[in-house]
Amino acid sequence: MKKIELSVIPGDGIGKEVVPEAIRVLDTVANIHGGLKFNNIEYPWSSQYYVEHGKMMPDNALDLLSQSDAIFLGAIGDPALVKDHISLGGLLLKIRREFEQVINVRPAKLLKGMVSPLSNPKDFDMIIVRENSEGEYSSSGGRVHNGIDEIVVQNAVFTKKGVSRVMEYAFELARKRSGHLTSATKSNGIVHSMPFWDEVLSEISQKYSDVQMQNIHIDALSAFFITKPQTMDVVVASNLFGDILSDIGGAIMGSIGIAPAANINLNGKYPSMFEPVHGSAPDIYGKGIANPIGQIWTAKMMLDHLGEEELGALVLEAIEDTLHAGIKTPDIGGKSTMTEVTDTIISNIEEKAKSGVLNSV
Ligand code: NAD
Ligand code: IPM
Ligand code: MN
Repeated sequence: MKKIELSVIPGDGIGKEVVPEAIRVLDTVANIHGGLKFNNIEYPWSSQYYVEHGKMMPDNALDLLSQSDAIFLGAIGDPALVKDHISLGGLLLKIRREFEQVINVRPAKLLKGMVSPLSNPKDFDMIIVRENSEGEYSSSGGRVHNGIDEIVVQNAVFTKKGVSRVMEYAFELARKRSGHLTSATKSNGIVHSMPFWDEVLSEISQKYSDVQMQNIHIDALSAFFITKPQTMDVVVASNLFGDILSDIGGAIMGSIGIAPAANINLNGKYPSMFEPVHGSAPDIYGKGIANPIGQIWTAKMMLDHLGEEELGALVLEAIEDTLHAGIKTPDIGGKSTMTEVTDTIISNIEEKAKSGVLNSV
């Protein structure tokens, strides 16, 4: 029996709704497999927890999490209770940083059955590889009141190590896929860090002469995500550029509610963390209409990471069949509830398993 120790943090808002849905899917595939078991430990760390305890997580939180094989997170953020920079800084960003989850992998592809807001979308299938530990998200800087004005400085910190490792990851991925890599730059205007980003790109590219590479300014690239996303495959970007590109990726797929993500620890010292691209969506929380697909596709990425690619593929096929059948939440033009969508995904998984799709499991 393969046992997976899973730390589950539903978090805030719709995180509390979509995480249990994705867990139902994980339980389904574990049953089908027969030799796989998830031991879930759920932690109530959230903005509500902050209100009660004055912190987002207990002092031994990282010790507890470090004992698991993976972390499965919903979303954090309830601005009515706690300021975002406190809630996100005290949980999501802290885990990413302390557990050296230096790469954030965010696929954006047109799924079967989805309607893109682009009027003439060609099939696109890309993966954004976002630097996840430094860059514009550094905590270096500060605030000065000099009696006349207020000045706030945020230093973007790019290390040779950090940039090289995200480039290596992206080149390797491009090599496994179509052999095409796009880098998001801004070396025409951001004078220190982005020329450095380009230099490292060019240096690392020497080892990957088989990978075709293009370097595009982030402003133009954002437009190309709308006008010709099918020309992109692997896209490597700094922390902030990658953050923004991945919401555009979600939008052109049809909804940010379906966009998945994986925060990857590369050195094996700490668990990786799986959380969708979207946030806690306070505007729809409690209505039962949150799209569970972002969280469920994220669970698929976690299955792949845990070496269960066949089960992962089954989950994505079941998602696509559900969309194709028109079982959709309102954010993607449907009338179904969150639960109906998950139920259909689960019955599609079970049917496929019965019909013998999983030959080698
Ligand atoms: P958001 O992603 O929560 O919502 C943006 C829009 O997308 C909203 O209209 C929302 O209803 C919709 N949406 C998002 N997920 C959806 C889903 N699964 N189904 C249907 N519709 C969905 O972004 P925001 O409004 O900027 O942020 C809300 C809160 O979430 C803030 O506190 C923010 O800081 C936080 N946030 C957290 C994370 C995270 O934990 N990873 C990510 C982004 C934002
Ligand atoms: C994301 C989110 C986070 C980020 C925020 C909530 C800190 O937008 O995961 O995309 O900027 O990384
Ligand atoms: Mn984001």
